Amino acid sequence: MAGALVIAIDGPAASGKGTLARLLATHYGLRHLDTGLTYRAVANALLELGDELGDEAAAIRAAHDLDFATFDRDHLALPEIGEAASRIAVMPELRKVLVSRQRAFAEDEPGAVLDGRDIGTVVCPDAVAKLYVIASPEVRARRRTQEVRARGVPVEQAAILADILKRDERDMARADSPLKPAPDAYLLDTSELSIEAAFRAAQDYIDRAMTGR
Ligand code: CDP
Ligand code: CDP
Repeated sequence: MAGALVIAIDGPAASGKGTLARLLATHYGLRHLDTGLTYRAVANALLELGDELGDEAAAIRAAHDLDFATFDRDHLALPEIGEAASRIAVMPELRKVLVSRQRAFAEDEPGAVLDGRDIGTVVCPDAVAKLYVIASPEVRARRRTQEVRARGVPVEQAAILADILKRDERDMARADSPLKPAPDAYLLDTSELSIEAAFRAAQDYIDRAMTGR
């Protein structure tokens, strides 16, 4: 990773990893990639083509064509696209293409903060710092419901909770790159933490990891 500084952030849906990743990227002067958007964008491309989500060849073509700089974040944030993303994310050959593109992004100097499910375990196992962010399912459902409603989409919190639990289960149970903490990851439970408190805890850990303490 010649010179690139990489911070890996993993965790389940709506745990707060993306918020943390953005703040940390700004703080350390690094680029940021939300790798979940890459899976969401491929799923969205298949849905728009009217293709079956099971068509791995079409998914791979969409993955090669993705422009990481122009994601339509509002549209990709819809719960049904998150659900479709977790269904295609079990495909090993699709993962190979996305992982290789994500790794290339990370290795460009000066480095980057990547958030997702397999950053510390598969995409960037040599990252200088690895965070595994969790929060209780109820807290995550409440946060995600508020977030989706703020985008003007009416949703029920119970439906969001069910979606989150189903995705957690699928992401943790899949054979290829399941969601799990890297053995050397720092576990951060944000259930009771404000965004600022979570940021301070993460920054403290990363500063120590960077100086080798
Ligand atoms: O990226 P991920 O799906 O893990 O979650 P996120 O998009 O960072 O956070 C989901 C929502 O929870 C956002 O609306 C954040 O503002 C909110 N959040 C929070 O209220 N408290 C935290 N400590 C972290 C995130
Ligand atoms: O924002 P949220 O945490 O709800 O989901 P996301 O990070 O946008 O990811 C959507 C789906 O993509 C996840 O449920 C995973 O199935 C998949 N994903 C993955 O397999 N590997 C990653 N590095 C990132 C996302």
